[in-house]
Amino acid sequence: MTCRIAVLPGDGIGPEVIREAVRVVEAVGAATGIAFDFTEAPIGGAAVEATGDPLPPETEQACLAAGAILLGAVGGPRWDREPAARRPETGLLRLRKAVGAYANLRPVRVHRAMAGRGPLRPEVVGTGIDVLIVRELTGGLYYGERGLQQEPFGERAYDTMVYTTPEIERIVRMAFQLARGRRRRVVSVDKSNVLETSRLWRRVTEAVAEEFGDVELEHMLVDNAAMQLVRNPGRFDVLVTENTFGDILSDLAAALCGSLGLLPSASLGLPGRPPLFEPVHGSAPDIAGRGIANPLAAIASAALMLRYAFGLEREARAVEDAIDEVLAYGPWTPDIAPPGAPVAGTEEVGRAVALKVRERL
Ligand code: NAI
Ligand code: MG
Repeated sequence: MTCRIAVLPGDGIGPEVIREAVRVVEAVGAATGIAFDFTEAPIGGAAVEATGDPLPPETEQACLAAGAILLGAVGGPRWDREPAARRPETGLLRLRKAVGAYANLRPVRVHRAMAGRGPLRPEVVGTGIDVLIVRELTGGLYYGERGLQQEPFGERAYDTMVYTTPEIERIVRMAFQLARGRRRRVVSVDKSNVLETSRLWRRVTEAVAEEFGDVELEHMLVDNAAMQLVRNPGRFDVLVTENTFGDILSDLAAALCGSLGLLPSASLGLPGRPPLFEPVHGSAPDIAGRGIANPLAAIASAALMLRYAFGLEREARAVEDAIDEVLAYGPWTPDIAPPGAPVAGTEEVGRAVALKVRERL
């Protein structure tokens, strides 16, 4: 079996961090004999410069022909004044649509080695935090009917939140399936004391749970979930929720980590379409080109790719364990270096992870 990967480095620090993610996947290949085939293609500002199109047809084709897409980041001040069709993020939005990504997975892991380096007190981090946020991505408030009207007293604006049974079923079912590969606990987050969409969400979730007798389900109101994520994050395994709540809670959970440079994401979609893996951070123009970007979010995204696109659980774990080891003992990029510790560059960190991956496999 050959694992075909479309590699889209993008803009700013994208190419710098993706280079290290590819290095680590190559180390997995060298250690195991698994064949990885990389096809690099332009997206975002880089593609606009080359072709005038932030998602050229060749890039889209390369993606759809691959088993997975590994993306850096797109955008930067250089393209801020471009019309929408030539803006880098338009390319990313079109790509997400092309792969039918309706589920956004954001694992938030805080290894106990990082306790005290993020905003949480060490005792809250405890033995570590490992939450997988599963956010519905193509429905709800961001896609419902909206409008702005003139009224005698001023203006009136509205947005509507809409969900259908099939939309809820597929995302909740995915969350339960993912929980089976983890600690078998799902927390479904809603606002069912107020919202009709949430009441439907809860009913459908109950029905899907019947198929998964081996997974424990708990419902939680979104305001309480925000509080619990900060006070007692260790209690969560898989957290599934609708689009808007997921947007807010995933950023909140991300902040628990201490650096944007650590957070990976996966966007999974329709069967037969390739999933998309990318760090949560953007192109970081303020540090681009200096070789100091943290590559761990991109490398962790590659680990998710091994797990969810190719079913390579052991290899994914080896990469994640290697990341934890580097977090604990260095080398560290400036964003995560403990006070007084020497700082390293992007490539040094990537090479360190690759080396430890080889030792583990
Ligand atoms: P950003 O995530 O690029 O940067 C925010 C802050 O975090 C900056 O100070 C940056 O230096 C730091 N940072 C981010 N990633 C880091 C890493 N790996 N290592 C160390 N430090 C890191 O977000 P910002 O500044 O709001 O946006 C910059 C550009 O990126 C914009 O053009 C924006 O549209 C784009 N963007 C793209 C995304 C994507 O491709 N998915 C997501 C978010 C923003
Ligand atoms: Mg957000």
